[in-house]
Amino acid sequence: MGTMETFTRTIEFSEYISVLEISYILASILFILGLKKLSHPDTARSGNLWAAAGMGLAILFTILFHKTRMENGSYEGIHNIGWIVAALVIGSAVGWMAAKKVKMTAMPQMVSLFNGMGGACAALISLMEFPKMQNMLATAGATNMLTGEAIAILLGLMIGGVSFAGSMIAFGKLDERIGDIKTPLLRYINLVFLFLLLAMIFYIMTMAPGKDNNLMIYLFTLLALLYGITFVMPIGGADMPVVISLLNSFTGVAASMGGFLYGNQAMLTGGILVGSSGTILTILMCKAMNRSLLNVIIGVFGGGGAASGSSGEQTVKEISLSDASVLLSYSQRVLIVPGYGLAVAQAQHLCHELENLLGSKGVEVKYGIHPVAGRMPGHMNVLLAEADVAYEKLMEMEDANNEMGNTDVVIVIGANDVVNPAAENDPSSPISGMPVIQVWNAKNTIVMKRSMAKGYAAIENNLFFMPKTRMLFGDAKATMQKLVSEIKNL
Ligand code: TAP
Repeated sequence: MGTMETFTRTIEFSEYISVLEISYILASILFILGLKKLSHPDTARSGNLWAAAGMGLAILFTILFHKTRMENGSYEGIHNIGWIVAALVIGSAVGWMAAKKVKMTAMPQMVSLFNGMGGACAALISLMEFPKMQNMLATAGATNMLTGEAIAILLGLMIGGVSFAGSMIAFGKLDERIGDIKTPLLRYINLVFLFLLLAMIFYIMTMAPGKDNNLMIYLFTLLALLYGITFVMPIGGADMPVVISLLNSFTGVAASMGGFLYGNQAMLTGGILVGSSGTILTILMCKAMNRSLLNVIIGVFGGGGAASGSSGEQTVKEISLSDASVLLSYSQRVLIVPGYGLAVAQAQHLCHELENLLGSKGVEVKYGIHPVAGRMPGHMNVLLAEADVAYEKLMEMEDANNEMGNTDVVIVIGANDVVNPAAENDPSSPISGMPVIQVWNAKNTIVMKRSMAKGYAAIENNLFFMPKTRMLFGDAKATMQKLVSEIKNL
């Protein structure tokens, strides 16, 4: 009878395990397919849903099928289901409302906040698991904690803590609640923190498992949080997207540590995917700005684009709304180059209206998209997709540059750095070497912005003084509105 019971239990257990593991593999597949679909605007929305379904599946099956082996050899399901469901409901409701309410321009802040929560989760898991691991090692009579589990716990705590604190600072900066602290001293402080954290990992692992070590782990957590703060503090406000992407990859790595710890494949794959895609995105952004990651972290340029007036003796030419509308209406090819100012002004719908209006007059209108136009990856693509601009109308920078000679008019809407010729012809410029959209090669260039203020890199732009450039000053939305009605009245 006893043997029969054990046999039945073993069968049950192996069923639970296999169902759970299969669900994790399915979840991992859904994450990967979701990520793949995210690479194209047409499928991005469903990609998001696929990945979310994968996560939902992993959570549901963990609640239903996860079993813990007890000391007496029996297996128990998950406790505190009520609490778990309550936390899930509250968390989902808050996340849902935040995502529904957030303005497009505040998206980086939200990403940063959500990312910080992921880092905090990973750190909390480590904080919970550390005492448990100590007890197990102490019971087994171990004299130190030199185990793979300890590495996973400590790295998860360190990276998760840095990611949480760093993301909170990034959120504060993006929301203009916190300023930059640009003192070279922070660089050294950061190096000291990093060294101390790594030394503490080694030290903690060589200690004998015991209760006293808990104080050490709290100290370690505090240090990781402080490091997160000082790591992000000196970085220029507008460099935040790169940092957020980096912190995002940290969170992924921290979560994958949890995957190692629990032998949980869904957590491991999810964490690795976030970690690697965050790293790739960080590298791509740095490349598109022609800057090294170190350069971004140390903060050579950036700071939000302080307004500044004239550029020496040079003068700019303005264009009137009526001249602009005639020029556009009688063109064959028009290229719209959007930038950060389009997002600020929320003029994307008017852009689409202008495109349709000119299209109805037989003008071919396309968009030239710079990879780092705006303040987050894919910023312009998302904005224009929101206004229902067809994806085929968007041209990548290289293609736009190739067709520039055949373009009658380029309308630069709220872009500045991404159309700055200094990147090509001024080796001393901070953006030297950054690929830019060569709008000056078109037959005419109209630049829409409010003033002569600089862009994110806080440098002068000679495009505004070039012979073929004419400025159309004003808020992009108001100017576009007037331009559209002017063209309608032609
Ligand atoms: P910026 O160089 O920042 O220039 C934006 C321009 O928009 C400003 O000069 C501003 O001039 C104008 N503007 C602001 N509000 C406006 C409004 N309501 N109406 C009309 N114009 C308005 O933008 P960009 O050309 O898109 O370049 C992006 C920069 O951000 C690059 O330097 C890039 O390296 C950096 N960056 C991008 C990312 C990503 S991933 N996209 C990440 C980090 C950094 P006025 O004040 O005169 O109007």
